[in-house]
Amino acid sequence: MENKIFYVTTPIYYVNDAPHIGHAYTTILADVLARYHRLHGIPTFFLTGTDEHGQKVQRAAEKGGMSPQQQADQTVGRFQALWRKLDITNDDFIRTTESRHVRVVQQILQTLFDNGEIYRAESDGGYCVPCERFYAGRELDAGTCRECGRALEPIRESNYFFRMSVYQAWLIGYIHEHPRFIQPDFRRNETLGFLQQPLNDLCISRPKSRLSWGIELPFDHDFVTYVWFDALVNYISAIGYLADDRKFQRWWPASYHLIGKDILTTHTVYWPTMLHAMNLPMPETIFAHGWWLIGDSKMSKSSGNVVNPIDMAERYGVDAFRYFLMAEMTLGQDCNFSEEAFIRRYNADLANDLGNLLNRVMKLVTSHCGGKIPAPTAANEGADEQQLRQSVLNVATRMEECLDQMRLDLGLAAVTSAVRETNRYLEKRQPWTLAKQPDLEPLNTVLYNAAETLRIVSGLLYPVMPAKMRELRHALGLPGSAGALRPGEGAAEPFLDQLKIWGKTVPGTPVGAMSPLFPRIQAGGASQAVGTARETAAQPQAVKEPQAIPPAGVTVVEYADFAKISLRTATILEAAKVEGADKLLRLQVQCGAEMRQIVAGIALYYKPEELVGKTVVVVANLKPAKIRGVESQGMLLAASGDNQLRLITLDGSLPSGAIVK
Ligand code: ME8
Ligand code: MG
Repeated sequence: MENKIFYVTTPIYYVNDAPHIGHAYTTILADVLARYHRLHGIPTFFLTGTDEHGQKVQRAAEKGGMSPQQQADQTVGRFQALWRKLDITNDDFIRTTESRHVRVVQQILQTLFDNGEIYRAESDGGYCVPCERFYAGRELDAGTCRECGRALEPIRESNYFFRMSVYQAWLIGYIHEHPRFIQPDFRRNETLGFLQQPLNDLCISRPKSRLSWGIELPFDHDFVTYVWFDALVNYISAIGYLADDRKFQRWWPASYHLIGKDILTTHTVYWPTMLHAMNLPMPETIFAHGWWLIGDSKMSKSSGNVVNPIDMAERYGVDAFRYFLMAEMTLGQDCNFSEEAFIRRYNADLANDLGNLLNRVMKLVTSHCGGKIPAPTAANEGADEQQLRQSVLNVATRMEECLDQMRLDLGLAAVTSAVRETNRYLEKRQPWTLAKQPDLEPLNTVLYNAAETLRIVSGLLYPVMPAKMRELRHALGLPGSAGALRPGEGAAEPFLDQLKIWGKTVPGTPVGAMSPLFPRIQAGGASQAVGTARETAAQPQAVKEPQAIPPAGVTVVEYADFAKISLRTATILEAAKVEGADKLLRLQVQCGAEMRQIVAGIALYYKPEELVGKTVVVVANLKPAKIRGVESQGMLLAASGDNQLRLITLDGSLPSGAIVK
């Protein structure tokens, strides 16, 4: 993040229909990146807007019995309302029907025409209206659209062409020399693959007789501009190209054009050649993310399988929705959208991990420390504290690396694992027990450390969940609670650099009251099904007695029988002896979103404190049973022999609750 400025854009969306989760995703991603940069004190410009010309919009208007301008005016309001609802902090919103944009497009066209970059010719071609793509020459051979596979509408007409083909060799060279220009790498290869075939010139006009809704060509009033040649220019017209040179010089070239993979060619072939013909520098990175899918197909207006982001935000909260979209999608890959997945992640990461940590700290500080963050004492800092501090500070650095590599999803996973580690730290240090001792210094140290984690974690999550983290930071008396992070609301208070330093929480800071930030979702469907399965699970004997390996052929089971056993990973959060039983330990384990108690006969082989934090494998669908009067909901797997017993653990890390098979 050593950039001096940060200019980030989203695609400008077509106004033929209402926004869906796909649009929300790109815009939230841009917002999160913009907010991180602002919190670093880096001057930031975040642009989004709407693409209002072209056949697609004209047809939607005809269908709705409106003029294209009315159609645009009506739909633009829906996009703008959604961005307000989702707490999007764009610095500008450009509409391609605005005169500030139209003027620039026309000036560019005139200059390119005067320079001989644009010529007129007769063409046979085919057009795909949903994608607004024209195909001619060899590209026409298939008779279907390369983007969506639909049949093309045949067109024969005289048009204007941009000499894109002459820039082919230059573009290939540029892409090779600038590895960050097209990201992820496999998308760069996709563009390079496309460029192995001869590049056609780009048809940049439409005769008004066929399409009247567009920007008129300045040199021929019978034509309007092809919608993509118009739309791409938004990235420079919005920041003052040919109008406000100082502003333009300040922001161009863009740091990131964020796009979906559906519009890779227009952004990595058309746009760079257009810029090159205008003698302008290239954007630093064009980043194409994957698609949100429903089942196996892309969520899209034309498929009619869209999920309305406003509904999701209203049902579950804006911040939780933002978090889910950012954490769930591996940047660059496609990702399936389902409400079940949303609920699972919400309950696990937010209600359970983060919510628990916050509740514990607030409750204990309120009831045992007079409602003020207590002071830590060096004498009570041991190996556990050092380890906690190190891991939490590492996460701040990790998040920065992940942002640089555009792997926000990995950064968020690291934050969640720091939260889990802090919960484990509390389980281990048992502040609720320390609170009963006469010397409160150990308690104070533990609570200070947990509060310090919350300061760092909430700062790292702030750009993703601004309102919730503002609330949390306000309750803990931390900076960032004033939260003027919208353009025009005053400068943001940069505080991200404070997250790499331990000990910034000031002892004595009063904590405020707060209601649960992320109340657990008690839903029907998948999450309930998991809960029900668990309630009927367990096993009287926690660990199998060591057994001789049966002779071959004696106990063969059918796969179907084996498949009845549900094995899952679980993380041990607490372990304690069962009174009056030498061999038994009572464990509290986390299995996905579930907490379970398991009684295991492993006390002769493991000390309780060795177990906390281990990821083990549990039989998750055993019938519950009481062992020495203590309920056990499952069984651990272990290997034994030679008077030894060792638990089966996981090689590497996966979220708890992962299926073992
Ligand atoms: O293409 N998953 O506009 P558009 C993820 N006007 N992202 C998705 C998505 C999905 N299922 N569906 C849409 C246009 N998007 C042109 C852009 S830019 C100069 C002109 C997002 O309304 C994603 O960012 O079809 C995709 O690229 C964009 O919306 C397409 O929006
Ligand atoms: Mg589209």
